[in-house]
Amino acid sequence: MKTIITAIALTGASALGMTAAVPDYLNDNLPIEQRVEDALSRMTLREKINIIHAQSKFSAPGVPRLGIPEIWCTDGPLGVRPEVLWDEWEQAEWTNDSCTAFPSLTALAATWNTDMAQLYGQSIGEEARFRNKSVLLGPGVNIYRTPLNGRNFEYMGEDPYLASKMVVPYVNGVQSNGVAVCVKHFALNNNEINRHTSNPIVDDRTLYEIYLPAFRAAAQEGNAWTFMGGYNLFRGEHASYNPILMNDILKGEWGWDGAVISDWGAVHDTRTAVSGGLDMEFGSWTNGLTNGTSNAYDNYYLATPYLKGIQDGTYTTTELDDKVRRVLRLTFRTVMDRNRPFGSLNSDEHVAACREIGQEGVVLLQNRNDLLPLQLDKVKKIAVLGENAIKMMTVGGGSSSLKARYEITPLEGLKKRIGDKAEIVYARAYVGDPTGEYNGVITGQDLSDPRSPEELRDEALKVAKDADVVLFFGGLNKSNHQDCEDTDRESLDLPYNQNELIEAIAAVNPNTVVVNISGTGVAMPWANKVSSILQAWYLGNETGNTLASILTGDVNPSGKLPYTYYATLDQCGAHKLGEYPGHPSIDKLGNEVMDMPYNEGIYVGYRFIDKNKLKPTFPFGHGLSYTKFEYGKATIDKKEGSADDTFTVTVPVTNIGQRQGKEIVQLYISDVKSSIDRPVKELKGFKKIDLQPGQTEEVSFEINKDALSYFDADKHAWVYEPGDFQALIGASSGDIRTKIPFKITK
Ligand code: BGC
Repeated sequence: MKTIITAIALTGASALGMTAAVPDYLNDNLPIEQRVEDALSRMTLREKINIIHAQSKFSAPGVPRLGIPEIWCTDGPLGVRPEVLWDEWEQAEWTNDSCTAFPSLTALAATWNTDMAQLYGQSIGEEARFRNKSVLLGPGVNIYRTPLNGRNFEYMGEDPYLASKMVVPYVNGVQSNGVAVCVKHFALNNNEINRHTSNPIVDDRTLYEIYLPAFRAAAQEGNAWTFMGGYNLFRGEHASYNPILMNDILKGEWGWDGAVISDWGAVHDTRTAVSGGLDMEFGSWTNGLTNGTSNAYDNYYLATPYLKGIQDGTYTTTELDDKVRRVLRLTFRTVMDRNRPFGSLNSDEHVAACREIGQEGVVLLQNRNDLLPLQLDKVKKIAVLGENAIKMMTVGGGSSSLKARYEITPLEGLKKRIGDKAEIVYARAYVGDPTGEYNGVITGQDLSDPRSPEELRDEALKVAKDADVVLFFGGLNKSNHQDCEDTDRESLDLPYNQNELIEAIAAVNPNTVVVNISGTGVAMPWANKVSSILQAWYLGNETGNTLASILTGDVNPSGKLPYTYYATLDQCGAHKLGEYPGHPSIDKLGNEVMDMPYNEGIYVGYRFIDKNKLKPTFPFGHGLSYTKFEYGKATIDKKEGSADDTFTVTVPVTNIGQRQGKEIVQLYISDVKSSIDRPVKELKGFKKIDLQPGQTEEVSFEINKDALSYFDADKHAWVYEPGDFQALIGASSGDIRTKIPFKITK
């Protein structure tokens, strides 16, 4: 009886519009901005301060009194990082936090397949959601300015157009789970050496044409909910609270309403952090409980020092309220979205996604005499050589290091796939880095080997000589200076004497395949001496299965390079013209910095190669298949028109080989005559098509103003010049198959 009366009473109250018991900020039927304003109006000054800085290594406290939950962040772009201790980087030794390790982001970019980017984002987002994270610290889209950058494997290559197209679906995929991405590291964090003091000196045109487009796409097209500022400086201020980058560009020009998160330990000062557009401070001390006087987090630059500054009138609350609004928006979009899915961890679908992305990303760089795929009816003895055939690679590399549920090494994958169809003989050939540990996560592999380099080499040559085919698995390995955060590589050459080893191996057996495992380009002075070369990236859990499927031909390779494979460092504009790693200088605050003029300007990657007519080992966009594709003649729907028109260019592409395969058809635009210096050509479109033998597809691209314009720094605007243009269509930046002119009238 009592229950019924209550129900009637409630119904009555509701009918009278009296159900205001739920405050606006908790009412998810209301627009998010209304909820934000309501929550803001209920918060005390201390609560506002609390919400904008960390309370532990990876979390911020929310507003406990109002039931506004904590924000939990996690690395990183390649998988969900294992749980660390509250105040330390060491892992917390949970037993439920092993994840699916996905391929590195250069591998994803090498798929040139936006569906793969969506699948990647969707899958990693599900894992982050299952682990109850609100923010995934990735993806990274810093442009590949130098092959020496230690974090290239976390980024999407050298071209702003490719990176822009690939980042947007990744963002959408992650955020469809109610988990925010944190696009990093905004901006110009293009090297790891001196990463806290690097001061890139870059003109506006270069900034807007090369280094910003992928970030802009993530912000405006992807609607990324958070961004991470870099450690480096830019025009006299650190990137994480740089007024030009954060206030003028990201929040101003791009009208972005998300929250800026500092990189971990990137904040150095309260005043500039307040005014420079930073919204959340993380990682300022690595040991939060012992470095401070009380709770060290209270001493963060955006904690008590900021509070005191407001109380004594140094700061108004205008900036604070803006920061709090952004953090609240993030909270409502993620952890307070009651409708977000529940996510999943280590599902069969995630494993399949890992394999599929890897299979589409592996790049067949060279294949003389069609040595690949391995012909298992003829090949009876296979020599598998090199440390990377047996080394687990999901541990290492810095903050993107993972605790993968399992990892199949290349040798395991091959043995499983080949079974008794051929004999596999393994020899180590060299010892690189036999360790496998990062912040307490250990691979458990014992890779120590007491033999001398000569003994290892002799054994390898003997095994190689005796085999029908040699598969050499080498490259880098995510240890310091070999694709690893906080260190750059020290040379373009492969480490551990691999160049000499490969030459010696090829001399005893020309049927040698080099499988290069790395996240960046390496010198290949031996390229002409070996038969085949595969660029194999870091491929996560399914590494061995993925590579076995490509090597045996179960899967036809279809990846293409997202960056130029330089023969020497001199072919890279940053090294030839720019300064790397810069020269010491003193900034306006009296700090020691490393000035790094980007003298090569917009001539990054193939833009520099084209301008100087250089011959790299392999050009940007290059990648072979086990079949062949023929390009017909391009046609265009109109020969001239205004820049407001859309031009459609079409080219027929035919699979003229014997088996199904995927081809990445690339469109480059060339401004034939312009009043300013422009690149010979720039990527402005690509399509990945899947063709059966004999099948033809008409591939069409639409060209509009965006594809014709350059950034005019004086006008601070994208402009185009009427006149003659050319559409160039090809299989790589170095292999243009057909061209067609068109004219833009005034
Ligand atoms: C890295 C970030 C990472 C953060 C948290 C920093 O050192 O630069 O990319 O997300 O640590 O681990």
